[in-house]
Amino acid sequence: MTQPALVYDRVTVRHEAHAPPALEAVSFSIEAGEKVALVGLNGSGKTTLLMSAVGLVEHEGEIRVGEHVLSRRTLQPVRSGVGFLFNVPEDQLLFPKVVDDAAFALVRKGMSPRAAAGRAREVLGALGVGDLADSPLHHLSHGQKQRVALAGALVSSPALLLLDEPSAALDPPGRRELARLLSGLGAAMVVATHDLAFASDVCSRYILLDRGRVGYDGTDAAYVARCL
Ligand SMILES: Nc1ncnc2c1ncn2[C@@H]1O[C@H](COP(=O)(O)OP(=O)(O)OP(=O)(O)O)[C@@H](O)[C@H]1O
Ligand SMILES: [Mg+2]
Repeated sequence: MTQPALVYDRVTVRHEAHAPPALEAVSFSIEAGEKVALVGLNGSGKTTLLMSAVGLVEHEGEIRVGEHVLSRRTLQPVRSGVGFLFNVPEDQLLFPKVVDDAAFALVRKGMSPRAAAGRAREVLGALGVGDLADSPLHHLSHGQKQRVALAGALVSSPALLLLDEPSAALDPPGRRELARLLSGLGAAMVVATHDLAFASDVCSRYILLDRGRVGYDGTDAAYVARCL
């Protein structure tokens, strides 16, 4: 049997020592290739959960990403096996030119800049922004930046994608295209979203966070909709 893509075992995250925890005793296991929507009201802990999986916030309990138990020592292999989309694209766009940004994950893994740029152009094309590959990033709209950030997350074909509100800035055709593209990928993914139609197009399972705790974990989309 292949190992799970992501396992949380009683994970608690405190942003501040004296405030209630943002995540409390969260446990779940996501199989290889499984697509899970992470839902919940504003402030319920979705972004915190995604950030904890790649060590961007400190946690108690155990987080396993593929074969690695997350710790300071495993941070690098964990991060190189995960495609991460931040809620705010500017938080992850580093280079002045679109194609260089989208190619970065591959260059960091040792691919030649030329080959990496070729692959990045393909992914940008699949996300509807191929014609912007040579543009300066600061010329792009918010939705276009989100597509470029997503290209950077997808470019190295990671086994696990952690996507924070990937459809939030997209126009309706862009949203449909993204749902189709994500559905066709073999990667496991956790998609934090308020967009339940998008979630049901892409994901077969829902984890509902309620003030930092898992309030529901299952496949009943109608139940989830009634909870929100
Ligand atoms: N850097 C931080 N410092 C202190 N508290 C934080 C920090 N980041 C988040 N929090 C708190 O942690 C809780 C969970 O926030 P989080 O951003 O994970 O929620 P969310 O489910 O992603 O919300 P949204 O739907 O608005 O994106 C909130 O109470 C928030 O105020
Ligand atoms: Mg959030």
